[in-house]
Amino acid sequence: MGDRFRGKVAIVTGAGSVGPGVGNGKAAAILFAREGASVLLVDHSLEAAQETRRLIDEEGGSSLPFRADVSKSDECAAMVDECIRAYGRVDVLHNNVGIEIPGGIEDTSEDDWDRTLDVNLKSVFLTCKHTLPHMVRQGAGAIVNISSINGIRTLPALSGAYGASKAGMIALTREIAVEYASKGIRANAILPGMMRTPFVEASLTRAWGGDVEEMMRLRDAMVPIGKQGEPWDVARAALFLASDEAKYVTGTTLVVDGALTSGVRTS
Ligand SMILES: NC(=O)c1ccc[n+]([C@@H]2O[C@H](COP(=O)([O-])OP(=O)(O)OC[C@H]3O[C@@H](n4cnc5c(N)ncnc54)[C@H](O)[C@@H]3O)[C@@H](O)[C@H]2O)c1
Repeated sequence: MGDRFRGKVAIVTGAGSVGPGVGNGKAAAILFAREGASVLLVDHSLEAAQETRRLIDEEGGSSLPFRADVSKSDECAAMVDECIRAYGRVDVLHNNVGIEIPGGIEDTSEDDWDRTLDVNLKSVFLTCKHTLPHMVRQGAGAIVNISSINGIRTLPALSGAYGASKAGMIALTREIAVEYASKGIRANAILPGMMRTPFVEASLTRAWGGDVEEMMRLRDAMVPIGKQGEPWDVARAALFLASDEAKYVTGTTLVVDGALTSGVRTS
């Protein structure tokens, strides 16, 4: 156990994972706890949050599972109330929830568009709206939003709604950073590239239906570094941005993608 977050409290949304294994949110929650933070594990699947708690318990960390759908304002308010009730403060808000409904513009129904924007983007507005008054009172806080490189470029699996929601997160992060800079609160976005997580395995199994390992090899081959990233890569970046080591870093984006947005693989 480290102590970079000793005495601090973090809310991690989407702290479970959609399938067996470790996703970006679960990895971040585990690393925050490993560094001494008390972590509110928020997920709309209580079972998924409880599984993350079990892993944190095994390492002697401190966490509490909490069920909430972060696209709903009253549930975000309840989430923050629970954090204050249990831990008395909130130092880190880590917005990790995200869904992707594949499809080009004509294939995307209005319902799917609305749902994607609500779950991926409106949720960040709502969690921040309810958390910021506490951070302002404390005079300190760090917000980390998990966007995607899809917010700055297209990817082979088209999803206009997903890309638009992730681009919106980047703009919203900037707005929050500037509005709250003088109040000691920082906000940054992480743009993961192709990470191998349960989220990706579930989407590929649904969309591809064939040999998922073959699809994984194709994804690896697209990345200049030669392989997809791990959820721990995203979580370590989050740990830095949420920590005091990043005290002068705010309003920016950190791309974690093995050079995928920089160019194609050359050998
Ligand atoms: N894996 C990748 O290649 C990749 C790339 C870029 C960005 N991302 C982003 O990373 C984030 C997710 O990563 P992950 O691996 O942890 O995914 P995951 O799907 O495994 O975990 C997300 C968790 O969020 C929960 N969730 C979904 N909707 C919710 C809601 N409305 N309210 C509360 N909880 C909800 C799910 O139950 C799940 O446990 C997403 O924002 C995704 O867009 C992933």
